[in-house]
Amino acid sequence: MLRWDILLAVDKATPNWPYKEGLITALVEEVAPSSENAISITCGPPIMIKFAMLTLQKLGFESEQNWVTLEAKMKCGIGKCGRCNLGGVFVCTDSPVFCFAEVERFLESFV
Ligand code: FES
Repeated sequence: MLRWDILLAVDKATPNWPYKEGLITALVEEVAPSSENAISITCGPPIMIKFAMLTLQKLGFESEQNWVTLEAKMKCGIGKCGRCNLGGVFVCTDSPVFCFAEVERFLESFV
């Protein structure tokens, strides 16, 4: 059975915001989701994704369980400028959504 838990949080809440406030990493640590039979999907700025992946790793999530969106690397969005090139793929035309294990392999190829 598929079950989704969606938690909403913002860095700085307005007075009427009914959900969580603070860093997403703190929320994830507070909720401490089980990595068993689970995946994560993270979208946001690269620095947030980096620390979200570290937090999920601490909770036992393998890179293959984590999916990230990398739209922040895009500029033209049509495969022309090359800004989003990542290890031989273009984020804009190949998919902005990647398994984090694949992203790690891309990053290792640059070392
Ligand atoms: S955003 Fe320009 S090539 Fe992908």
